[in-house]
Amino acid sequence: MKKIVVIPGDGIGREVTESAVKVLKKIDEKFKIGLEFEFKDAGGTAYDKFGEPLPEDTLTACKNADAVLFGAVGGKKWDNIEVNLRPEKALFGLRKGLGLFANLRPVKVYESLIDGSPLKPELVKGADLLIVRELVGGIYFGDRCESEIHNGVERAWDLENYSVPEVERITKLAFETAKIRAGKVTSVDKANVLSTSRLWRRVTGEVAKNYPEVELNHLYVDNCAMQLALNPKQFDVIVTGNLFGDILSDEAAVIAGSIGMMPSASIGELTSLFEPIHGSAPDIAGQGIANPMGTILSAAMLLRYSLKEEDAAKTIESAVEKLLDEGYRTPDLYSDGFKKVGTDETTEIICRYIG
Ligand code: NAD
Ligand code: IPM
Ligand code: MN
Repeated sequence: MKKIVVIPGDGIGREVTESAVKVLKKIDEKFKIGLEFEFKDAGGTAYDKFGEPLPEDTLTACKNADAVLFGAVGGKKWDNIEVNLRPEKALFGLRKGLGLFANLRPVKVYESLIDGSPLKPELVKGADLLIVRELVGGIYFGDRCESEIHNGVERAWDLENYSVPEVERITKLAFETAKIRAGKVTSVDKANVLSTSRLWRRVTGEVAKNYPEVELNHLYVDNCAMQLALNPKQFDVIVTGNLFGDILSDEAAVIAGSIGMMPSASIGELTSLFEPIHGSAPDIAGQGIANPMGTILSAAMLLRYSLKEEDAAKTIESAVEKLLDEGYRTPDLYSDGFKKVGTDETTEIICRYIG
């Protein structure tokens, strides 16, 4: 048996994980992998039930799992509670607790979504990039101060730090990945301003010497943000720190047509976790209209990376592609002339195509 811990979380996290589990069950019928699901709470839902966003029991179950499938956490209801109890803390606890140091966020452009992109078709056609985001360091995990009086005025601060081994670890993974892709790494930093970025740039340059077959270039993050919209095809693998990776990947989602299409894999030392890059989308939660494909494609990544079930992963990806080719669109992708479908119908069609 392969044990998958499923953490639906909050808002649309609950809807999209339900879809992905249905798809995984369908895959299991076909490929006889022997999947076993265990559902656990995290985020605001866990706070409401247990008074904490990441119960020990949830983390322990994840540590003992073959893989984790995560929805999303957060919502207005919990925006003003004590900072250490916020739903988002569950994510940090899981990332740190499972040692999920590398977050892989692929940006794939489906042929039939090209014309629907807000970017010109000739810019997005053929774009295929992977953002490798460092996930357990940087400003997300540095010292911070919520409030203090300094020179008679209130201020707050967050400290960014990166160590050489942290940068080496993520950079090596980026180069190894580029080797089996198009052989190009773009390292993104703000080395004209930040000390951490200057260290980042020096270390990526050192690591690059071990990979003569891979081309390395460096971009400042502000320029990279522009280049993503201007000419996304120039990129193969982008490697960057925690904060820049978070921001650039939401921007890159526009290339894929919608943030609802974007999967991710967080690779860990103990186990790995798979989740869409989007959040709990309170503005559409509970309406049955969330795009479940980012989570379904995350389930495909789970099969590929954690369970080594490449055929099963490809079967899911082909079913998603077929649904798009057949003209079905969730509201985030919809335009005139297409067939509008909600979360459940999308899931049913994908399951049907899996066969
Ligand atoms: P969001 O990603 O939830 O939503 C941004 C926009 O994209 C919204 O308009 C939303 O409707 C849309 N969207 C997102 N996913 C979609 C989908 N699958 N289908 C269709 N439309 C989709 O970001 P936000 O609004 O900035 O944050 C909402 C909450 O989610 C916050 O509490 C935030 O902290 C949390 N959040 C959690 C995660 C996570 O759990 N990994 C990630 C990002 C944000
Ligand atoms: C993401 C999210 C999280 C992050 C938030 C919810 C803490 O935006 O996974 O991209 O910033 O890492
Ligand atoms: Mn984000």
